[in-house]
Amino acid sequence: MTASLKAVVLISGRGSNLLAIADAIEAGQLQAKIALVLSNRPDAAGLELAAARGLATAVVDHRDFSSRAEFDLALQSVIDGVNPDVVVLAGFMRILGAAFVTHFLGRLVNIHPSLLPDYPGLNTHRRALEAAEATHGCSVHYVIPELDAGPVILQSVVPVLPTDSVESLAERVLVAEHLAYPRALELIAAGRVCLQSGEVWLDGRPARPEDKVR
Ligand code: GRF
Repeated sequence: MTASLKAVVLISGRGSNLLAIADAIEAGQLQAKIALVLSNRPDAAGLELAAARGLATAVVDHRDFSSRAEFDLALQSVIDGVNPDVVVLAGFMRILGAAFVTHFLGRLVNIHPSLLPDYPGLNTHRRALEAAEATHGCSVHYVIPELDAGPVILQSVVPVLPTDSVESLAERVLVAEHLAYPRALELIAAGRVCLQSGEVWLDGRPARPEDKVR
């Protein structure tokens, strides 16, 4: 099978989304190849999981740089060396500067554990519970310089149960993430989705809100 989408995956932690993407590729559900798994933390658990899968890994440790701009440039140069079609943020916990984001605009995607534009930032599950939301979920989106504000490719909605704790809700959203990220990447791999003039296009026209909910 010819891989159609060359991906670099950026992680900072456990790497469960990375594994879900790797699984989807192995299962033939996603026509892609993970060319490199890159972490800003040498101790990210996902690095070992990636290596165990035979994936190439690298670390650009943010603590080795005196400024965010220098770190971003080092990261950019490693990624450019691979020349990927898509840069996949999968639990990457560093904010990337505008120059980096602009450099990869249209090729840089993220998964966020909320139904954006609701709950950008951290602690999304706790905030959704505190607000007594009936539903919560995750969003795969193109990254723009403004944090968690990029155009949404697709969202997956999960119910909030009366018995939910932060942990149980997070767990249910994570299951949805593991389905949503490979699906969104497959839309990109198939050439069905792209970013055009700041909007997500699906099948040659601007995506409608109902296209984005799976
Ligand atoms: C996920 O919940 C993702 O939405 C958020 O960070 C978490 C990463 O988890 N951006 P993992 O490292 O993929 O397991």
